[in-house]
Amino acid sequence: MILDRLSVPIVLAPLAGGSSTPELTAAVSNAGGLGFLAAGYLTAPALKERLDQARALTGAPLGVNVFVPGQPGDLDAVQAYAATLAEDARGAGAGLGEARYEDDDWAAKIDLLATERVPVVSFTFGCPDREVIDRLHQAGSEAWVTVTTPDEAREAVAAGCDVLVLQGVEAGGHRAVFRDDPGDPSDGLGLLSLLQLVRARIDVPLVAAGGIITGGGIAAVLAAGASAAQLGTAFMRTPEAGTADVDRQALASDAPTAVTRAFTGRLARGIRNRFIDQHTAQAPAAYPAVHFLTAPLRRVARAAGDPGLVNLWAGQAHQLGREIPAGQLVRELAAEARTAARQAGQRLSAIED
Ligand SMILES: Cc1cc2nc3c(=O)[nH]c(=O)nc-3n(C[C@H](O)[C@H](O)[C@H](O)COP(=O)(O)O)c2cc1C
Repeated sequence: MILDRLSVPIVLAPLAGGSSTPELTAAVSNAGGLGFLAAGYLTAPALKERLDQARALTGAPLGVNVFVPGQPGDLDAVQAYAATLAEDARGAGAGLGEARYEDDDWAAKIDLLATERVPVVSFTFGCPDREVIDRLHQAGSEAWVTVTTPDEAREAVAAGCDVLVLQGVEAGGHRAVFRDDPGDPSDGLGLLSLLQLVRARIDVPLVAAGGIITGGGIAAVLAAGASAAQLGTAFMRTPEAGTADVDRQALASDAPTAVTRAFTGRLARGIRNRFIDQHTAQAPAAYPAVHFLTAPLRRVARAAGDPGLVNLWAGQAHQLGREIPAGQLVRELAAEARTAARQAGQRLSAIED
């Protein structure tokens, strides 16, 4: 297993939409962690280009993350939502995009990955069929599936996945839920609850994600049974990340985060801003139609540096992120995790005495 071969139990979360770069992926892998490339929003040829770039920068193992396509949402509800955004779009000098369903070039990406022999292919937004997982296994790849509940964990294991990535509700970016059900009354499991529940019942290696941004957080999830910690927000301020300036500034602030469908039609956590406050209540569960609808508005606002209108994806502990090179961050976090684990061990020994 790749997890057994890492010298540092730190996995870079895939960060689609700008922050993910081949340089960031390679820097984390070169430092002994596992770098991931985000394939989300890329065509298969664009993914191939990034994969080649990352491979030119590291000979160490890396992973690629793919979005599993879901069902098309209600386009009438999206049109009604579009009407509520018209004023913001006019104010920003942007249009709204065409609300449409796309599968994110799924089949072509799977065909590519079935020939590329990438050490790890991870999935989010659902569980691929066993046939897809079998093809990846034949190519020598491990298949990891991101889950948010014990039920999703059981489904992924039944489909043949090798590793579960557990995503707690603290996580930045999209919730990885298999079905984004607006009628679901649960507000999502925190990472430690999810980790304990899954660890108690399921016997595959676990990677823990959501709100981890210090070595102490890494030590905590290892103590609770994870084989590695996956960090996203922690890497967004590194120089290798493609994070835009407006996001970098917001990430450095103490602003709180909130979960919303307003930007993409799928639940996601970002720094609370005017767009979230004004549009969350009306936003339908219609991914990726809402993503395409708001994309031009977000693009213009991001270029103009307007934090009120952009999706400032961030985990709950974002303000502790560091603006240092990614390799240095991996090394600092690993050293901190070792210290935190030692101190916890000392406290427990003192209690035993
Ligand atoms: C900007 C951003 C983009 C993300 N893109 C992806 C993605 O493409 N695929 C994925 O599985 N998860 C994605 N995530 C979620 C991460 O995989 C992970 O669950 C999350 O970053 C963990 O929480 P943290 O940000 O507090 O570390 C993204 C998160 C952020 C902040």
